[in-house]
Amino acid sequence: MMKHSQLGRTSLHVSPLCLGTMQFGWTAEQATAYDILAAAREHGCNFLDTANIYSRWVDGHVGGESETVIGRWLKETAVPRDSMVIASKVRGRMGEGADDEGLSRAHIHREVENSLRRLQTDYLDLYLVHWPDEETPLEETLGALDDLVQAGKVRYLGCSNFPAWLLMKALWVSDVAQLARFDVLQPHYNLVHRDEFERELRPLCADQQIAVTPYSPLAKGFLTGKYRPDTPLPTSSRAQRVQASYMNETGFAVLDGVAAVAAEHDATMAQVAIAWLLAQPTVASVIIGANSVSQLTETLYAAALPPLAADLLR
Ligand SMILES: NC(=O)c1ccc[n+]([C@@H]2O[C@H](COP(=O)([O-])OP(=O)(O)OC[C@H]3O[C@@H](n4cnc5c(N)ncnc54)[C@H](OP(=O)(O)O)[C@@H]3O)[C@@H](O)[C@H]2O)c1
Repeated sequence: MMKHSQLGRTSLHVSPLCLGTMQFGWTAEQATAYDILAAAREHGCNFLDTANIYSRWVDGHVGGESETVIGRWLKETAVPRDSMVIASKVRGRMGEGADDEGLSRAHIHREVENSLRRLQTDYLDLYLVHWPDEETPLEETLGALDDLVQAGKVRYLGCSNFPAWLLMKALWVSDVAQLARFDVLQPHYNLVHRDEFERELRPLCADQQIAVTPYSPLAKGFLTGKYRPDTPLPTSSRAQRVQASYMNETGFAVLDGVAAVAAEHDATMAQVAIAWLLAQPTVASVIIGANSVSQLTETLYAAALPPLAADLLR
């Protein structure tokens, strides 16, 4: 069972692995999603990450499919609500109107209600801004988010895909206006995508006590080792993107290092990639994604590995 620990300055206590649910309603149908949720919970994972836009990009979908599956599962299995920490996000386009995307007060207030309804809950533990909105003043966004915290609809706030300067500015605005602040950052961070986070965001998060929950820890599957040079791409809805982003000299050199550590410690490459992230300063919980219970089970065991991978891959 995974041990839970405090998420930064918040009063939330979370497992070191957070179950990402972007695949739900996309490549994992409801029955598979239910099995994945049950397996994660059985292993002590109490932290779920979703977003209103998951999986709007699928033909015939309108968005909210992942939240809907989670809401049904919570209700049908009667999992006590307070035994789970649920995070969702807002920012992406959810309709065709001018106010159907972004971080305006109108959009945030409407979308939180939609997320709560789909998740069949009356509060979110964590509400994140999915990515910045250059057209809306930060004061308006942070004021709207603070309204939700004051109303008890949201417990804590976070942001994703923010550059360091903008996160620092947001902290300053919250401070001077006495608004609830971002306590969690969800960055794209893994062994083949390090610089963006490590150069400026990491020292900022350490200094400002912001808990970090990295996404795409396996580089969308690349760090499992199933993408090899001169071999056919594996069957995956994300294979083309993996090929374009990571299948290059640098990516394969990292894979060689991961393979060596894995062999030495009787672990799989996926487990080493996740254990490495767990050992990084400021990282509080790693958001893993899976299309099946067997994929999930493999990655869940990463939490049992010692933090040795950190030094070996430096
Ligand atoms: N804030 C953001 O902008 C943002 C962006 C992306 C994701 N996220 C969140 O982070 C979560 C995880 O992101 P991610 O899906 O990109 O994570 P990831 O860990 O980099 O990739 C997960 C994918 O790797 C493959 N995989 C996982 N375990 C495996 C195993 N044991 N063996 C072989 N293949 C395996 C599966 O894809 P295949 O089966 O298709 O190979 C799976 O869907 C998402 O669900 C979402 O909640 C947030």
